[in-house]
Amino acid sequence: MKENIAVIPVIFRKFKGLSAKMAYGFAKMGKTRLFPKYDYHYNHMKNLALVYFNITPLCNLRCRMCGQWGDKGKMKNGRIAEEVKTLVSLERYKKIVDEITPCHPVTYIWGGEPFLYPDLIPLAKYMVDKGLYVSVNTNGTFLEEYAERIVRDRWSTIFVSLDAFEETNDAMRGKGSYQRVVRGFEAINREKKNRNSPYPIMSIVTTVTNMNYLALDQLAEASRSFGLDIHIFNLGTYTNDNIVARQKQYMREKLDTDIDCLAAYNTGYNLNIDGEKLHAVLEKLHRSDYGHLIITVPTLNPEKTHTYYADLETPVRNHCIVPWCQTNINYNGDVHFCADYPDYILGNIKTQSFTEIYNGERANRFRKAIHESEGGMFPGCLRCYQNMLFGRKIKGY
Ligand SMILES: C[S@@+](CC[C@H](N)C(=O)[O-])C[C@H]1O[C@@H](n2cnc3c(N)ncnc32)[C@H](O)[C@@H]1O
Ligand code: SF4
Repeated sequence: MKENIAVIPVIFRKFKGLSAKMAYGFAKMGKTRLFPKYDYHYNHMKNLALVYFNITPLCNLRCRMCGQWGDKGKMKNGRIAEEVKTLVSLERYKKIVDEITPCHPVTYIWGGEPFLYPDLIPLAKYMVDKGLYVSVNTNGTFLEEYAERIVRDRWSTIFVSLDAFEETNDAMRGKGSYQRVVRGFEAINREKKNRNSPYPIMSIVTTVTNMNYLALDQLAEASRSFGLDIHIFNLGTYTNDNIVARQKQYMREKLDTDIDCLAAYNTGYNLNIDGEKLHAVLEKLHRSDYGHLIITVPTLNPEKTHTYYADLETPVRNHCIVPWCQTNINYNGDVHFCADYPDYILGNIKTQSFTEIYNGERANRFRKAIHESEGGMFPGCLRCYQNMLFGRKIKGY
């Protein structure tokens, strides 16, 4: 299977306008990996490469494996009405965007479902106008409605979640969701044609579970007509009771923090995935020409595919670099490094500047703890999506 890195020059050839911004982000991540700054008085803003904006906890779907609204989702606690009152205002976001713009980070807007934040359109436009690379991760059910404004405003990339061909996708993500996404692609393609614009770059993200893993090629076949640029297969975030218990104890001892987010990924949707069969499907996807790039995260050696799902306690990536080049701003203004796990809070953008938080004492305490941990990661990071993207590949995996 092709290494993911092999697709980067292809993206660059196809989208020259954005290549410099992406390259700058990658270069800073590369620099962070090669020369991580363990000097805790360092100005980490210099290496800020990626800022995630989780702008709303609300969602219109209930995808079964989701850590927020799925079977074990942490949002299903009945406090959503209270949470919504805490949303960050557009004006405050603009101030933060002004502050981070000189560092030229890639921005990644997500949620919940980002289209349920009332000011998504002006926020994304503000970022684009500032010259930032703006990517949005959505369930795609609002694309048809907003296609005209998205293309007009030249969003850089949209990552649309679609997990399988219609029947299986709808079993995972909700009835009617597949067709709504397909109508969204059609609307975006129409608008791109009308305006003769290559933007946004369109990507599907497919989360692999035991519900869809044998049917991935059906989706890939169907996607030929979606006008895509990229299709990412995300092998999924999973954990188990043992890992959760170890992480709880570790975070309490090292960072005085009680965690409650990791357990939402103890869904069991990794169970009984036959690694050989999945690898054969992935091989076929990478060999075939669907008219767009295929990327798997993480890429694994063929014989290790079963390990990823059957032995969650075996690390496949380590030495996470996230705290040295990225961070997430939660919908309530809290800043935390681990996008899916808002447990250890660095500060809040409603009352503090971004720089103060990112270079602050709590951020440095986290950096120190992860640096001093075995393998440069915590026990709970074993299948974390960010670690799969930005961790160091362990030899043999
Ligand atoms: C939580 S969603 C938020 C954005 C938007 N609502 C969406 O679905 O794209 C972010 C991404 O996480 C994916 N996801 C959901 N459950 C997951 C899991 N257990 N492991 C890995 N990714 C997951 C979603 O499919 C989506 O691509
Ligand atoms: S649409 Fe996104 S946030 Fe909503 S339930 Fe599905 S994966 Fe979770």
